[in-house]
Amino acid sequence: MTWYSRIVGCGSYLPERVLTNSDIAEKIDTSDKWIVERTGIHCRHIAADGETTADLATHAAVAALKNAAIDVKDVDLIVLGTSTPDFTFPSTATQVQERLGMTEGAAFDVQAVCSGFVFALSVADNFLRTGQSKTALVIGAETMSRILDWSDRGTCILFGDGAGAVVLRAEKGTLGPEKSGIFSTHLHSDGRYRDLLYVDGGPSATQTVGHLRMSGREVFRHAVVNLSAVVHEALEANGLKPESIDWIVPHQANKRILAGTAKKLGLPIERVIITVEKHANTSAASIPLALVEAVGDGRIQPGHLLLLEAMGGGFTWGAALLRW
Ligand code: ACO
Repeated sequence: MTWYSRIVGCGSYLPERVLTNSDIAEKIDTSDKWIVERTGIHCRHIAADGETTADLATHAAVAALKNAAIDVKDVDLIVLGTSTPDFTFPSTATQVQERLGMTEGAAFDVQAVCSGFVFALSVADNFLRTGQSKTALVIGAETMSRILDWSDRGTCILFGDGAGAVVLRAEKGTLGPEKSGIFSTHLHSDGRYRDLLYVDGGPSATQTVGHLRMSGREVFRHAVVNLSAVVHEALEANGLKPESIDWIVPHQANKRILAGTAKKLGLPIERVIITVEKHANTSAASIPLALVEAVGDGRIQPGHLLLLEAMGGGFTWGAALLRW
């Protein structure tokens, strides 16, 4: 029996509190003008005291299940992308599992930083393709605000908190070019670049949580090159050209990275779903947050060809090509 997977619903959650650039400029030496010009970011959502990644993820999962009209008892897999888990262990995925009232199947976290959602989607897609699972919740959830050094103006302005989720169902048969489903996923990593974007803490190395550190300019340079390469790889694997893509749903790091990647592909920026202005960089949550927004406002329609792409610390990067 052959199987493929299809997204049948999506949902997201953003914490209530909004932090504007001007709010940050009251505390450190920066300005709304600088942040908007260099990044496109105007504001970001920040989790309330005591509100954790598992809380955000659970809200998003509930919304996705409702949108898909799927009962939680049918879910047999949760794959959750995060780099800001509530605890070293147990995984955030098992906390979400417990809160949803799901007692069977498997739940685990995937850690690929900003590529976390694409990695989690790829893992779940492969579980469904082999017939090992039938219905998966794929979640990206982060509380990046908890690992920022709020005195470092080069990084603290860039990130926000949030969560998004999709429900993935296994479908019998082969995915034809016009059918709705995931055609392919493409993952990469290269550990040689760890020092360009990392957290300087962790349970084994330092017994602290640590803070995010980044060489912004270097990351920027690698991001445009790696992202356009993996997009081409996904298109070539499916015999498609960039102009076939209806929407790029990218990881939201920086408006200039989004524009640079679209330009390299020869695609107009109007075909890129952009939410970075309001959400900033929510790491593994950014793609499902953008997806939910564009599905909700009617830009993404059934039959559209979507290209999801992301790059993050590690480095890790990847893409997924699917028909909605
Ligand atoms: N406000 C005002 N000035 C600032 C700020 C700030 N928030 N941050 C840095 N500066 C200053 C620097 O101190 C520096 O001043 P100097 O010339 O007097 O030394 C000057 O601005 C230029 O600094 P750069 O770091 O070279 O600025 P750059 O133009 O590269 O912009 C930025 C920095 C926005 C971080 C950019 O490099 C970038 O977007 N990189 C991509 C990184 C990214 O998005 N990472 C997210 C995770 S990875 C991913 O998701 C793909």
